[in-house]
Amino acid sequence: RIAYVNGRYIRHAEAGVSIDDRAFLFSDGIYEVIEVFQGALIDERGHLDRLARSAGALRLTPPLSEAALKFVMRELVARNRVRHGHVYLQITRGAARREHVFPSAKTPTTLVAFAQAHDPDAGEAKARKGIAVISVPDIRWKRPDIKTVSLLPNVLAKQQAREAGAYEAWLVDADGFVTEGASSNAWIVDKQGALITHPADSAILSGITRARILEIAKAKGLALVERAFTVAQAHDAAEAFISGATTLVMPVVKLDGRPIGAGAPGPVALGLRAAFHEFAV
Ligand code: PDD
Repeated sequence: RIAYVNGRYIRHAEAGVSIDDRAFLFSDGIYEVIEVFQGALIDERGHLDRLARSAGALRLTPPLSEAALKFVMRELVARNRVRHGHVYLQITRGAARREHVFPSAKTPTTLVAFAQAHDPDAGEAKARKGIAVISVPDIRWKRPDIKTVSLLPNVLAKQQAREAGAYEAWLVDADGFVTEGASSNAWIVDKQGALITHPADSAILSGITRARILEIAKAKGLALVERAFTVAQAHDAAEAFISGATTLVMPVVKLDGRPIGAGAPGPVALGLRAAFHEFAV
């Protein structure tokens, strides 16, 4: 496997960054995960726009132009012969003597990228079965809308889910509303067939997959409501699913050990999943 680190393509196992890197010391960095489907980068435009927004929020200057970034991602897909999988991209504030305050503006930012292949059949098999989720308190900071590598609460939530026999954790805010998943956006379909998902405000990461699903749902004429839902409303839903660049549309069949709807993947979720790559470009 070949990775990209600060201007060089190098063997993944030998790739590394400084122990002084600000992402290692302070999680002072941002990232993106972009799906590769049939060798193509899906929704690249949306991901690059979000990367620019994350960079702006942290006042980070990416070390490469957008055109150069696009080139690097294509190189990684080609050199690693990835047909299905994802590209991971991370930009950090670079390596500097450990001090909380930003290093001098001359300090070059760090750019790391790599490509990873997935077995698409495994994802399809998982979608046919559906996944279980558990609800856990959303203990994250107040800016989860920025895609930073500061993911400790997400990691702990996901691990708790895994140990409970679930695939994803749904994060619940102080008012009892589900914000999103540890690494995905959360959706329900109510008994009237309306799609419900948290508004893309500062409480969630505005998913690129989420935006694409909203567009597909509009094209299909589905009723859509961007509002927060509670765990109780999810228990009462006809269907539920999660969305993200690595999971796409993944049906949720169980919440906190109780079946949702028929306890099987629902037609709305499966329909959106099937339509996804017709719409995503
Ligand atoms: N996670 N919410 C959170 C907290 C996420 O980490 C992600 C993506 C999403 C979905 O966003 P998108 O549709 O743009 O992938 C929502 C990536 C895949 C990850 O951290 O691996």
